[in-house]
Amino acid sequence: MSQSKPSYALAFDTANETVAIGIGVLNQETRTITEVATQEVYARRQSNTTLLPQIEALFNRCEIKREQVSCVICGRGPGSFTGVRIAMATAKGLASAWEVALGGVSSLDAVAWNAWSAGKRGRLTVVADAMRHEIYPAQFDLLDSGVLRLDPDTVIKVEAYAESFPKTDFIAGDALEKYLNHFVDDGSVSTRVCVLEKDFWAPTGKGLLLAAQAKWQDKSFNPFDKEVHNPGVLLPVYTRLSDAEENERIRLAKENTDVKTAQNIKRTGEITYRPFEESQVNAIVQLEALQMGSSAWSPLAVRDELGRKNRSWWTAFEGESLVGYAGGFIADGNLQILKVATAPTHHRQGIARRLVQYVASDARDLGASSVSLEVRASNEGAQAFYRALSLQPNGVRPRYYSDGEDAIVMVGPLPLAKKDVAGMSLQDNRTRNSNENQTGLAPESKPQILALETSCDETAAALIDGKGVLHADILASQIDFHARFGGVVPEIASRKHIEAICGVAEAALEQAKTSWKELDAIASTYAPGLVGALVVGVAFSKAAAWALDIPYIQVNHLEGHIYANKIPTPDLKPPLVVSLVSGGHTMLVEVRDWGDYHILGQTLDDAVGEAFDKVAKALGLGYPGGPVISKEATRGNPKAIDFPRAMLHSGDLRFSLSGLKTAVITYIEKERQAGNDSSIPDIAASFQQAVIDVQVAKARTALQQTGAKEFCLGGGVAANQELRQAYEKMCAEEGVRLTLPPLTACTDNAGMIALVALDRFRETRFASLDADAHAQASLESSY
Ligand code: KG4
Ligand code: ZN
Repeated sequence: MSQSKPSYALAFDTANETVAIGIGVLNQETRTITEVATQEVYARRQSNTTLLPQIEALFNRCEIKREQVSCVICGRGPGSFTGVRIAMATAKGLASAWEVALGGVSSLDAVAWNAWSAGKRGRLTVVADAMRHEIYPAQFDLLDSGVLRLDPDTVIKVEAYAESFPKTDFIAGDALEKYLNHFVDDGSVSTRVCVLEKDFWAPTGKGLLLAAQAKWQDKSFNPFDKEVHNPGVLLPVYTRLSDAEENERIRLAKENTDVKTAQNIKRTGEITYRPFEESQVNAIVQLEALQMGSSAWSPLAVRDELGRKNRSWWTAFEGESLVGYAGGFIADGNLQILKVATAPTHHRQGIARRLVQYVASDARDLGASSVSLEVRASNEGAQAFYRALSLQPNGVRPRYYSDGEDAIVMVGPLPLAKKDVAGMSLQDNRTRNSNENQTGLAPESKPQILALETSCDETAAALIDGKGVLHADILASQIDFHARFGGVVPEIASRKHIEAICGVAEAALEQAKTSWKELDAIASTYAPGLVGALVVGVAFSKAAAWALDIPYIQVNHLEGHIYANKIPTPDLKPPLVVSLVSGGHTMLVEVRDWGDYHILGQTLDDAVGEAFDKVAKALGLGYPGGPVISKEATRGNPKAIDFPRAMLHSGDLRFSLSGLKTAVITYIEKERQAGNDSSIPDIAASFQQAVIDVQVAKARTALQQTGAKEFCLGGGVAANQELRQAYEKMCAEEGVRLTLPPLTACTDNAGMIALVALDRFRETRFASLDADAHAQASLESSY
């Protein structure tokens, strides 16, 4: 028939303990996928190290070339969150780099199709393990014509499901490993349920290909449509928000609750975004009355939205005043937007857009894939606003409003934008670092390395060339999603990385005016940090590098913070002493050579940033603490309270912060009990001074001991103005050159990762396909 080479679909799933892979040939005329090879490997908690080597082995065995892949298909779960994310990040990396479509299939569907292909007929119940005594159940009818799914994805306590266990012929799924006796009475013959053999409990390559083919047949998936199925769109099946968010909703749903989750985050001039909570009801009602006139919601109606499971509401504040809100509910995979409002003083500032995007981001986590809303026929401004978010008119509801006006129904897909990054705004670090090179990449500026950073709560990407010039340095900060919890919530961080990684990587390529094909290597942070967050960047980068057959480079995050000093000081040369001070680390490092680090001393307990955050929390100043404390401190007296300077005279370079933290918190509590109106600025200034005194004294000793003539800073706390000034003075006295990285190079960013990656590229220090993410890694050991 046709002479052209076959195009392949690559499908895989890691939702459970099994890594399942399938390769099939796509036939566009019949919309069928013909199986070529499949493979299942048991890989308990090892999916990230197993998946890509297995894919490569299968390609080699079948003699398939990577460029022959026309689409990637990924099992979306439900299953283990980290497991699903490994497959998802890998799939996004492959599909992005190959520039092909990425399709998703339910892991439960893949189990059902696998049973179907083995000739099973009748009703099948699949139960996947959801941990903590919960399962993801779904029923299917296995008919001669194919598999018919009977229920949507849910999560339920195993006891509750087993109690009213619906009629079935077969049961399968990895939840049976733990809960078999809930479904089969002691394994006795009294029940007529047939438990399928263990081989049928997890998705298989065959099941994945058949499930994808079924979606192609019913036209909900087209493996050749990379516009609709662009890799940024696909998300895991979660069935619920993160635990932190779920618990917050439960708290908020209780009437007359007195919780103030988002404390008074006072960043005046700046707009902060928070989810809707009890304390905001009155402000919303007032803005409603102002904006909506007769159709304004009553306090009761507003309060009723609080804490509902299928709702998402976000509010925007400038300082303490509410300037906007938006919300909607999710039903049958659709987000119905109920309200979008901004104060008249705050129109046209992008606030409404951001609010809708945050609501949409939550909705996607709750399983929505489309959005709809009604808008007044006469409100052309609003219609234009929604069109810009890619919604289209889709009918009219005559006389919908109480005054008789028609409503236009508008609908659209989720995410709202093609390159959506969980509704976050992209920050360009290059302009802020004033180190930009605005001319495009010259062809000779090789190598071109794309670097990604996902160790904590920022999704970041940078592009560096062979001369060390950063052509892109982009960042999406998740702070609005974490602030109300008083710190970074690991599960939320992982989810947002998965949502943002494609958009952030694409934005970096676009800004550098280059493309995937031009890249010579891809790098990512692999440690230390939150494993569930790191894994997203590692799996994505490793897969993209493999797809393009270029090296993958791993970078230690702390080494990145050291290299960040090259951004303002390109001629920086060891030996040097660096103070690393962040939310997770506090140490003095001697850099003997690039790649050769000696830790002179570090904290025995809390990190400096952590102390700032905890003190801020005790003062009710919100999260993160560093910026607010330093701001309050400008109005305070640093000598007002004599807080302890722990280890100042310890004779070594170690630190201890927990004593200081406790002293400050105890002080605040005592003052409160005594009814004293304690002065926040004085406490902040005195606490900050205690920190600075120790930091600077030990840095001075480190310089004297090592004889280094260069001193550098790294980490979020290095943004502290008082600390920077104290170092300026000390370094002048010591005759040492001081490098003060710009703020955006102090906090987490991908530019610093790219700088390390370039050195490692020159030394050809590349990572293998089984490379993984790690929570811990010593800066001293080479990797
Ligand atoms: O390096 P970073 O962005 O993240 C990691 O922890 O890796 O550092 C964040 C920390 C937070 O604890 C924050 O409170 C602190 O840096 N921070 C500051 C300032 N800005 C941020 N601490 C003191 N003064 C500041 N101006
Ligand atoms: Zn950091």
